[in-house]
Amino acid sequence: MKVTFSIIKADVGGWPGHSLVHPRLIETAEKEMEKAKKKGIIRDFHVTHVGDDLELIMTHTKGTDNKQIHELAWKTFEKATEVAKELKLYGAGQDLLSDAFSGNIKGMGPGVAEMEFEERKGEPVIAFMMDKTEPGAFNLPIYRMFADPFNTPGLVIDPSMHRGFTFEIWDIMEHKKVFMNTPEETYDILALIGAKSRFVIKRVYSRNSDKFAKDEPVAVVSTEKLYQIAGEYVGKDDPVAVVRAQSGLPALGEVLEPWAFPHLVSGWMRGSHNGPIMPVGIKNAKCTRFDGPPRVAALGFQVANGTLGMPADLFDDPAWDYTRNKAQDIAEYMRRHGPFEPHRLPLEDMEYTTLPGIMKELGPRFQKL
Ligand code: F6R
Ligand code: MG
Ligand code: MG
Repeated sequence: MKVTFSIIKADVGGWPGHSLVHPRLIETAEKEMEKAKKKGIIRDFHVTHVGDDLELIMTHTKGTDNKQIHELAWKTFEKATEVAKELKLYGAGQDLLSDAFSGNIKGMGPGVAEMEFEERKGEPVIAFMMDKTEPGAFNLPIYRMFADPFNTPGLVIDPSMHRGFTFEIWDIMEHKKVFMNTPEETYDILALIGAKSRFVIKRVYSRNSDKFAKDEPVAVVSTEKLYQIAGEYVGKDDPVAVVRAQSGLPALGEVLEPWAFPHLVSGWMRGSHNGPIMPVGIKNAKCTRFDGPPRVAALGFQVANGTLGMPADLFDDPAWDYTRNKAQDIAEYMRRHGPFEPHRLPLEDMEYTTLPGIMKELGPRFQKL
């Protein structure tokens, strides 16, 4: 059967500040999802949070960009916003940038990652959810999963992966996309995606067409840029991704392996700092130190006849303690830079800036060199 796996997420109020989602918002969302499941709109759901982002994970058979599914998510966020307002949660409704739903939730504030695929005999799917960073934070780990043989030995030794993968890369500044192949275009791909605030991996496809249809994605990342949608700072984009694993795709352990390196991502305090991404279980997905450090959680599902079954909290495991300790060392090291780059982002990437005001004030005092 064809199944659609959708994650739609939004920050509709933090508790306290920008650190966490209040349990009542999760309950509210669960109630709405349960109703939709009873009505047959979705097959299954799991509601969770990472940091201050409310995450709706759904399976259904309506395909991507479906109006009914997007409307369900929007209405759910509206209901949660009502509760957030009642509890006076911080920034209640902050990611709902529009007053009314108009057919597709994209461009309205929430982040979306969805893909439709033919459910295999065994279908492991991993939902990755980040807080306090931007979509480009996925570039390095997704690249390593699908293109780096030092991460994924399957690329070398599994004949069903040997032909490589196609990367769909978006230029989120110029609003263009390009499809590029590994392994032969590796250097050009890296030239783009190394510039992670501009070029982001949107989808990955298998090139082993006997196993996967050419147009069937095996990974997808949310690429909504809140700053661009709203035209002003309204919080970072806090991206999510869906990755399928095994049997011609990276094994679960190859999908998780890139996260052993807590690479530097942009976001953290005020969306304006570089810091390490720290893999955590959901119980530790709270952004406390300096509003972070940026976190990533991973829930694994074994999709069965369009249902999710129980999630496995993959980073809730001592195997990631070393990485978490390393992330904290890096956090400490970066913090010592205070307001200096490269901890603070370069001017053009900062979400807040007082510089134009300072320059205006200082204008008359500046002398020619
Ligand atoms: C970053 C983030 C927080 C806020 C910070 C200031 O994405 O959400 O670090 O930027 O807490 O928030 P305001 O301006 O709402 O006081
Ligand atoms: Mg927030
Ligand atoms: Mg957030």
